Amino acid sequence: MGSGGWVRGRRRRIAAASVLALVLLAALLVVFHAEDSMAKRGGARLEWVSTTLEDQPAVRFFLYEDVLEDFTAHCEIKDRYAAKGAEALWIEQLVDHPWRTRDPETADLFVIPANFYAAHTGWCRKTPEEFLRTTSRTLEGSDWFHRSAGRDHVILSTYFESWRQIERLPKFRNMIWLSRMSGGWTWHHPKARCAVAVMHNGPPPRPRRDRNATHRHTLFFVGQADARRAYRLRVATIKSLGDVDGGRGDNFVVGTNPGGKVDPEKKFGIPYCESSQSTGCYLAVRLTHKRFMKELTGSRWNLFVGGDDPGSARFAEAASVGVPSIIISPGVESYLSFKDRIPWRNFTVIVDPSSFLAHPKETIGEVLRRYDDDETRDRMVALQDQYSREFLWGHPESRVATNALAEAARECLFSDNQKRFHSYPFALQIYLFVFIMIIILAAIPFGL
Ligand SMILES: *[C@@H]1O[C@H](CO)[C@@H](O)[C@H](O)[C@H]1NC(C)=O
Ligand SMILES: *[C@@H]1O[C@H](CO)[C@@H](O)[C@H](O)[C@H]1NC(C)=O
Repeated sequence: MGSGGWVRGRRRRIAAASVLALVLLAALLVVFHAEDSMAKRGGARLEWVSTTLEDQPAVRFFLYEDVLEDFTAHCEIKDRYAAKGAEALWIEQLVDHPWRTRDPETADLFVIPANFYAAHTGWCRKTPEEFLRTTSRTLEGSDWFHRSAGRDHVILSTYFESWRQIERLPKFRNMIWLSRMSGGWTWHHPKARCAVAVMHNGPPPRPRRDRNATHRHTLFFVGQADARRAYRLRVATIKSLGDVDGGRGDNFVVGTNPGGKVDPEKKFGIPYCESSQSTGCYLAVRLTHKRFMKELTGSRWNLFVGGDDPGSARFAEAASVGVPSIIISPGVESYLSFKDRIPWRNFTVIVDPSSFLAHPKETIGEVLRRYDDDETRDRMVALQDQYSREFLWGHPESRVATNALAEAARECLFSDNQKRFHSYPFALQIYLFVFIMIIILAAIPFGL
């Protein structure tokens, strides 16, 4: 065979290999999505006419009392505002909720009021495994659960350690899962059919008079930052933003290093704080909660910088004392909840993480030039206050549970446009596709 023939033959083989790879990919897509489309409930019972809460149709929900009693009888909630456990306030908000129905026949959603966070944190006289068994038994014994194969069942868990248990609940893959979302880090997430973002738990808003302190700092940041790649935005923050203050005075920008895992001086060239120093350094001693709140309240801006995942409990803390946030966190869009209802960009500043990494000082200097005047900042604080009950679990008139139910119904029951939990299967599809292509291309020289 001449070389022209060989090239033609080779091209044909590459073309054949590509077609084969595409067919395999299509097959994979079908397998991954078949379950999702089967999971859709036929026939929407509600017409979705409005996104405002006032004129939204009620979402009737049934609460599994056996599960509630199991956790209530065996647990004592020691901190309702624990940053990572929103379960306690979720359940509190549901118990007397006007949408609750005791007649499962009339329910749109079935809530499983489990609090695995409490079990993990040591507030219960039963282990998470024991709760998993009793909760599973309740579901297995429920006709309502079997009727829908779990598709109209809702469970909330905002603590990553709990995901391992809830993932093992019967038919968990079909359920509606309320949780903190972590964008690109979804590898660690349970694989529920439909997910709704809820954020960290947080304290009630402080009354205005407590937060009218004169601002001693422009920027505030306190957070763990070690040598892992996930923390490089925080390291850049501590290293570069210590003295970017728009000419107003001090910042309070410090790192913490629990367990002394790295030597910040050697590793990043960032010193430990001297006794009088409180910016651009690592804390040598732990900050008391009182001092932490005092410094945060006395700051004009909270820096919300992503670490292990794109969320941050600091956001709720800052909002509760009326401090607006500058957000530097890849994937934060997946963390912020109820985006159809809350105009996040009107009261936070969302900074592009790659511009920030390239030029930290200049990027934040520019943000301060644009936003750090009293009028702009006051307007943002007022708007954040106005919307805080939509996202703050601890707000005395919190509507987080209501918003979550509404979004769960709209996105997971009544919408064709289901927010599927796609990151994990999608990433898997890409890996498999690349893997298959490599095998096929590697096979070509041997005459496929
Ligand atoms: C709080 O701030 C407002 C507006 O900046 C000001 O008018 C008011 O006097 C302050 N109140 C106190 C107690 O400092
Ligand atoms: C938010 O900002 C947009 C544009 O900047 C504006 O059109 C909208 O009215 C604002 N929303 C609120 C609630 O202030």
